[in-house]
Amino acid sequence: MEKSIEQIQSEALKELETASDPDVVKTISVKYLGRKGKITQLLRSISSLAPEKRAATGQKANALKKALEKTFEDTLKRFETETTGAEDRIDVSLPGRPVVAGSLHVLTQINQQICDIFTKMGFDVAEGPEVETDYYNFEALNFPKDHPARDMQDTFFVSDNIVLRTHTSPLQIRTMEKQTPPVRIIMPGKVYRCDSDLTHTPMFHQVEGLLVDENISFGDLKGVLTAFVHQMFDERTSLRFRPSFFPFTEPSAEVDILCVMCRGDGCRVCSQTGWLEILGSGMVHPALFETVGYDTRRYTGFAFGMGVERIAMLKFGIDDIRKFFENDHKFLRQF
Ligand code: PHE
Repeated sequence: MEKSIEQIQSEALKELETASDPDVVKTISVKYLGRKGKITQLLRSISSLAPEKRAATGQKANALKKALEKTFEDTLKRFETETTGAEDRIDVSLPGRPVVAGSLHVLTQINQQICDIFTKMGFDVAEGPEVETDYYNFEALNFPKDHPARDMQDTFFVSDNIVLRTHTSPLQIRTMEKQTPPVRIIMPGKVYRCDSDLTHTPMFHQVEGLLVDENISFGDLKGVLTAFVHQMFDERTSLRFRPSFFPFTEPSAEVDILCVMCRGDGCRVCSQTGWLEILGSGMVHPALFETVGYDTRRYTGFAFGMGVERIAMLKFGIDDIRKFFENDHKFLRQF
């Protein structure tokens, strides 16, 4: 009898070891502990034993019953926690989730490229306020009060004497007030004009350039801008200087580049002219030097200002300026 108690125990545990799901465990449990189970039968048969053996055998059989009950319970519990935890388990055979990496905005890239080209030529970078006084935005740049030239730029007024800067040129004055020649700076930043269509947004970016020293001529301006265009676009991109007017430069010139799309044949992008306007420039007007206290007999200089959006649109053939500011990933991811 004792032998069969141990036998039953080891059989039960062996079977349990191979059980692969809760149903199998339940079946094994019935086989041993059910109404007709092996242990139930064993307990029943105790009454037929010799009286002196009953107590000890009964205790052993009961202990086995309890132990098995507990083992079955524990095994069932283990299956339960394993199945409820299934969704948290990692399926190592699945392909990995891609990590979406951000990148610099196309305008930031172009802005950096422009600044890189000029800093390699020896220019320093300067920055200044976007909310500007009438004095720096107009007055000191030789725009007299009520002069029609102020209408060239559709100004956002904050108050009578405060504006959102309409260009980066106020930084020419701010820099010259602080520095004596030689001055070699470029000034990137946001500017604002009350204007909105396919090629204009109320906020856009400019990069201003200013070089003042002894013996600076229009030839130096041409040389620097030609070197810039050849690096920004390519060596085949020729330039054309067209006479123009700005109150703060004299003489003034608008600079066109050979159309990057048709190379001069005439197309939709260049309105059949073969040329694209990219910036305004000229020799610094002596009135500015007088305002900041530079010796006009000793120093001359040139200045230029370009739109970053415009350069980016020409470089990549983008036809709508608003695309830069819509935060559409499909558009931005291309750069
Ligand atoms: N500030 C002018 C503009 O915004 C551009 C310019 C800069 C022209 C410097 C001449 C010299 O249109």
